[in-house]
Amino acid sequence: MAISNESTAATSEQSGAPKFYYPSEELAQNSNIMAYAREKGFSSFEELYQWTIQEPQQFWSDMATRFLEWYQPWNQVLDESNAPFFKWFTGGKINIVHNAVDRHVNGPNRDKTALIWESEQGESRRYTYGQLAEEVNRFANVLRSLGVQKGDIVTIYLSRVPELLFAMLATVKIGAMHSVVYGGFSIDALQARIVDAKSRVVITGDGGWMNNKIVELKKITDAAVDEAQGLVEKVLVVRRTGHDIAFNESRDVWYHELAAQPAMDEPCATEQMDAEDPMFLLYTSGSTGTPKGLVHSCGGYQVQVAATLSFTFDIKPDDVYWCTADPGWITGHSYIVYGPFILGATQVVYEGAPTYPNPGRWWEIAQKYGVTIQYTAPTAVRSLMRFGDEVPRQYDLSKLRLLGSVGEPINPEAWRWYYRVVGQERCPIMDTWWQTETGGFMIAPNPTTPLKPGSGTKPFLGIEADVLTEEGQPASGNDDGLLVIKRPWPAMLRTIHGDPQRYVDTYWSRLPGNYTAGDSARKDEDGYYWIIGRIDDVIKVSGYRLGTAEVESALVSHPAVAEAAAIGLPHELKGNAIHTYVILRQGHEPSDALADELRKHVGKELGPIARPETVNFVPNLPKTRSGKIMRRVLKARALGLPEGDLSTLEG
Ligand code: WT7
Repeated sequence: MAISNESTAATSEQSGAPKFYYPSEELAQNSNIMAYAREKGFSSFEELYQWTIQEPQQFWSDMATRFLEWYQPWNQVLDESNAPFFKWFTGGKINIVHNAVDRHVNGPNRDKTALIWESEQGESRRYTYGQLAEEVNRFANVLRSLGVQKGDIVTIYLSRVPELLFAMLATVKIGAMHSVVYGGFSIDALQARIVDAKSRVVITGDGGWMNNKIVELKKITDAAVDEAQGLVEKVLVVRRTGHDIAFNESRDVWYHELAAQPAMDEPCATEQMDAEDPMFLLYTSGSTGTPKGLVHSCGGYQVQVAATLSFTFDIKPDDVYWCTADPGWITGHSYIVYGPFILGATQVVYEGAPTYPNPGRWWEIAQKYGVTIQYTAPTAVRSLMRFGDEVPRQYDLSKLRLLGSVGEPINPEAWRWYYRVVGQERCPIMDTWWQTETGGFMIAPNPTTPLKPGSGTKPFLGIEADVLTEEGQPASGNDDGLLVIKRPWPAMLRTIHGDPQRYVDTYWSRLPGNYTAGDSARKDEDGYYWIIGRIDDVIKVSGYRLGTAEVESALVSHPAVAEAAAIGLPHELKGNAIHTYVILRQGHEPSDALADELRKHVGKELGPIARPETVNFVPNLPKTRSGKIMRRVLKARALGLPEGDLSTLEG
């Protein structure tokens, strides 16, 4: 197997450490997943899993009725007639906003806290389910007043404020689709996404707070919209920081001004959508070229999101759940904006950075709100671990009962620290493997699973995975291979916006009949999966997914750069960091000042997360005879490893 593009692979157990970490019997027996197993007549997760693999359609239709209300039931659970364009719950009518918001208003959750928001600057806001419904209703009326209609794609570029959640829910309520662009991205990334989605309406803010600095969301939006081929008719601006911004009277409208009109409080109907209508687009980086707009559906998506959240994180009515992700990523879509509200949970959303104004900030929030479940990323665990055990120990974390990790393999060291110091050896860690493409968890433990630090353990109910060789044979023993999913699942992406062929080519062509995830992995003697890393030109920097192609185009957009290559190399905190190799145009000389300027240029164009760690000036780049940059050769050289097969290298 070719060396993977990533280097954060979890290593095997240290000698002397226990092989398994067992969740308590009490937690296991009282879990949501065991309640379901018993209803089905099974006494263990394993028995239940086997049944869901034999009867996946029965299992998923159980989930669709257990967690959701439908306007109209489906005729067929899974339609495979046009594979790999699978359809789920065809004929069914549903809207996720009915399940996440509307239905709570007439039920027991009306006055229950839905959302506790804390800002970096220390403000706190609380919304009951009743208030959430009012906010979403008002936002939906505002969008309607701007002419947004069913099927339109609204681009949303906001910081982590409650209005981001309201905007997403409001868009879907009226049958439109959202395309959320993470507030840490910048001009180029935003512009490319607006153009690909052909958005006529963009929602942004006057700014956002991060690390005590204002992120100039409006300025970035203006620049992106100006370059967006005249597509954007209206920019809806949410007031957050109150600082001065440029305002274009013919295009920009303040949200708070429109929302203040009495008509905006009139009831706004929730659209009844077909299960297979598209619900949102979310752009993600791939191996080549422009980011792909992944299309997610109205029906199957919510079925899997609700089932996985309930069975993996075991959410109960009294839980206080906190997912630290940004709503702008799939984790935030599925497990902040939609999943917790479908389950009627109380959740915390924190606007800022984990270490602002001090490294105890997260633990202070957990103590203050009595957080019982925390779901975060390995990069955050690693960065907090640096400050030592004393920091979390100053806070009362005794309410915590489950922890979670996502985004990249978690190093066993970081796992054990999170388990021992934060979870006080009481809280199992749900290491969930999934992707923007999968929509929901695919390989993940549950409260009955014996855990191994660094492994996502085994597939979720109804999911069949494997590790295959390049030839499509099961990899033997502990060998590395390609991680595949062997059958469709309800929350799977349906296509790539505007490019169905790319959907087929990227995911379904390498090993026909299987979905290839783009990860290498191995399966151990207990059937546990260990993710090694990406096998394509995707780099995970602090869990964020970036394509080498995006970084390279940002570099080449600078007048001094003729050609560029980007690779990921191991980094203690970020997992991987971006390193770049640049050929200068004639008339430009290498210098530290220029390297710094190029790093900043990428940060400005793409966003701070994409800023390269190093810029190396080189006279040439290793290329294949057909002109493709051989990034694996650059990587092997940087790591002092053998360069592998060079037979295709240009002479
Ligand atoms: C890629 C998908 C899905 C939410 C966030 C990431 C890596 C994700 C894990 C995990 C090892 C993981 C994989 C995957 N990844 N979760 N628990 N253990 N690796 O979504 O940005 O689409 O990235 O993230 O490489 O393919 P994404």
